[in-house]
Amino acid sequence: MKRLRLAVLISGRGSNMERLLEAAAAPDYPAEAGLVLSNRPDAGGLETAKGCGIETATVPHKDFASREAFERAMDETLRAHDIEIVALAGFMRVLTPWFVTRWHRRMINIHPSLLPKYPGLNTHARAIETGDSEAGCSVHWVSEGVDEGDVIAQARVAVRPDDTPETLAARVLSEEHRLYPQALRRACEIIRRH
Ligand code: GAR
Repeated sequence: MKRLRLAVLISGRGSNMERLLEAAAAPDYPAEAGLVLSNRPDAGGLETAKGCGIETATVPHKDFASREAFERAMDETLRAHDIEIVALAGFMRVLTPWFVTRWHRRMINIHPSLLPKYPGLNTHARAIETGDSEAGCSVHWVSEGVDEGDVIAQARVAVRPDDTPETLAARVLSEEHRLYPQALRRACEIIRRH
C-alpha cells in the first residue's frame, strides 16, 4: 500500500500537528509525514516537528506583496516535497480560490465547532453565549467558503454551566486530538478510491 505524502500547515503551537505526526509514524497509517510548513517563523510547532525528525519549511506571509504570491510560494514548496495531501492544523490564513482549487479534495482542516455552526473565530465564546448544550470540533474538506467544505468527521462534548471559553476550548481540544488522526485516515481512504 502506497502511503500518501502529508504536509501539515500550522501557524502556532501545533498540538494537532503533533497528533497527526504521531499517527503518521505508524507504518500501517495511510499517510506519511513529508513536511510541516508554517506561515509564521515563530510557530512553536516547528520545533516540535523538527524534534520528530520531520522536515520543516517557513513561508512568511508578511514577506509577500500579495496573498496570491504567498500562496504560489507555498504551493511550490508543497510540490517540491511531492506532497499529496495537506492537513491544516491551526493554520490561520484564509486561502484564495486559486489555492483551494489547486488542492481540491486534497486538503482538510480542523475547526473547533460543530460546523455549520460558528465558522470563523471565537467559536467557544459564541457557543456559550448562545446557550448551546453541546460543542465540539469538525474536520472538513477545504472549499472556497471559510469553514464551509463537506464535513468528514465530528466529535461532541457537553457544555457545562460553569464553562468559560478557555475551559470549553480545552475539552474540545482533547477531542480534536482524538478526531484528527481518524479523520485524516478517512480522507486518505476517500482519495484512494477516486
Ligand atoms: C485548534 O483548536 C484548531 O481547531 C483551531 O486552532 C487551534 C490550533 O491549535 N483552528 C482554527 O480555529 C481554524 N479556524 P494547535 O496549534 O495546538 O493545533
